[in-house]
Amino acid sequence: MSCPRLGLSLLLLAALAWTEDEHGSEDSSHSKKKGPGHGHWSYADKDEWQLEFPFCSGQKQSPINIDTNSTIFSHELQPIVLAGYSLDPSEQLSLMNNGHTVVLQLPGSLTIASGYPQEYRAMQLHLHWGSPEGPGSEHTVDGRRYDGEIHMVYYNPSCGSIKEAMKQPGGLAVLAAFLQVGPEDNMHYQPLLEQLHKVQEEGKETTVAGFNIEGLLPANLGRYYRYSGSLTTPPCYQTVNWTVFNWTVLLSKKQISLLETTLQGDDDTDLQNNFRLTQRLHGRKVLASFQASLSPRKVPLPDGGVAPMTPAPDSATERSMDKVPGTGAGCPPCADSEKQLGFALQTADVLAGLFGALFAVTALAFLIYIHRQRSQNRRPDSHPKPNIIYTAATTDENTV
Ligand SMILES: *[C@@H]1O[C@H](CO)[C@@H](O)[C@H](O)[C@H]1NC(C)=O
Ligand SMILES: *[C@@H]1O[C@H](CO)[C@@H](O)[C@H](O)[C@H]1NC(C)=O
Ligand SMILES: *[C@@H]1O[C@H](CO)[C@@H](O)[C@H](O)[C@H]1NC(C)=O
Ligand SMILES: [Zn+2]
Repeated sequence: MSCPRLGLSLLLLAALAWTEDEHGSEDSSHSKKKGPGHGHWSYADKDEWQLEFPFCSGQKQSPINIDTNSTIFSHELQPIVLAGYSLDPSEQLSLMNNGHTVVLQLPGSLTIASGYPQEYRAMQLHLHWGSPEGPGSEHTVDGRRYDGEIHMVYYNPSCGSIKEAMKQPGGLAVLAAFLQVGPEDNMHYQPLLEQLHKVQEEGKETTVAGFNIEGLLPANLGRYYRYSGSLTTPPCYQTVNWTVFNWTVLLSKKQISLLETTLQGDDDTDLQNNFRLTQRLHGRKVLASFQASLSPRKVPLPDGGVAPMTPAPDSATERSMDKVPGTGAGCPPCADSEKQLGFALQTADVLAGLFGALFAVTALAFLIYIHRQRSQNRRPDSHPKPNIIYTAATTDENTV
C-alpha cells in the first residue's frame, strides 16, 4: 500500500508543517514558503516553543536522558526487524534541507515487520548533530551526549492518514540511533553525505538514488530502549513510540565534520546544534529489550557485552532485507489503549468515590437512627417508629 500523503511527512519538521497541512496537497512541498519570514520556530528560541505550540510543554516530551540503571527489562520487546530497505538505484528519493535538518523522504514500502505491536510504515529520516565544538545527539544515555543521532520516522497506517496518525498515541514511531566518531568511513552514509553540498541552503532539494537504507542503522537492532514521547520539534505532538538503539553507528571524523559544517539554516547561518535539550520524564518508564541496568552483583550479560559499539559497518549488509512486509491483517486499530485504560481507571476512581460517600451517608443515617432509638427508649412516653426509619435507610441504599 502506498501512502498518497507522503508529501505531508515533512509535517514532522514543522518548517513545512502548517503550510503543507493547510494546503493538503502533495505538491505543497514544492511550493512551500522559503522567504525570510519563514520559520515559526528555531533552536535558538526553544524555550519559547510552547507559546505557539502548547504540546511542547506537555508531560510526555522528547528527547530524554536514559538512565540505564532505571530502565525496566521487558522480554516482550522483540528485536526490531525491518523489511524492504534495500532500494533499487532506479528509485529516486528526495533529499532536502528544511532549515532545521536534512530530510530524506522514504517510501511507505519500508516497514517495521517486528518489534512493535502495531504496523509501521516509513515516512522519512533525518539527522541531528552538534558542531566542531561539541556533540549533538538529542537523547543522552547516563548523561552522555553522543556526536549525532539519526531518526527514522514511521506512521501507523491503520490510523487512516499520516495526519491522523500524528495525533493518535502510538500513531508514530521513531527508530533512533546514536552517531559516533569511529576509525573509518562508514560507506552506508556516503550516498547521503555526498549530496549534502547540493542542499547547502535552506529550502534546497535534490534527489538521491535508492540505496540500502537499513545500513544507516546499527548492525544490532535487538538491543534498544522503548518509551512514549513526542516529536522533538514543534508541534511536539506526544504520539511517538520511541525506539532508541543501544548499539551506535560509527562514522569517520571526516564524515561527522562534513555533517557539522556543510549546511546552512535560517539567515544563512551554519546549521549546527540542531538538538533539543532533554525533557523531564514526569513518571514515565523506560523499557529495555535487554538487561541494561547493572545490578550491584554484576551479573554478566548473556552475550557478554557491557558497552557494545557498532562493529565493522559492513556487517550490517546481510540482514533480513527481503522479509515479506506485514500484510496489515490483524493490525490492531489505531486505538489508544492507554487512553482507554486511563478512562477505565478514572471511572473506577469516580465509582469508588461515590460508593465511599454513599457508605458514609448510610452509616451516618444508621448512627442517627440508633441514637434516636436510644433517646426515645429512654423517654417514658416514647412511641418508636423503627420500621419507618429503618425502611427509609434501606430505600436510600437501594437507589444506587
Ligand atoms: C508502544 O510500544 C509498547 C511496547 O512495544 C506497547 O506496549 C505500547 O502499547 C505502545 N504504545 C502505544 C501508545 O502504541
Ligand atoms: C548500552 O548498554 C550498556 C549496558 O547497559 C551501557 O553501558 C551503554 O551505555 C549503552 N549505550 C547506549 C548508547 O545506550
Ligand atoms: C548503576 O548501578 C551500579 C550498581 O549500583 C553502579 O555501580 C553504577 O555506577 C550505576 N550506573 C550509573 C550510570 O548510575
Ligand atoms: Zn529528529
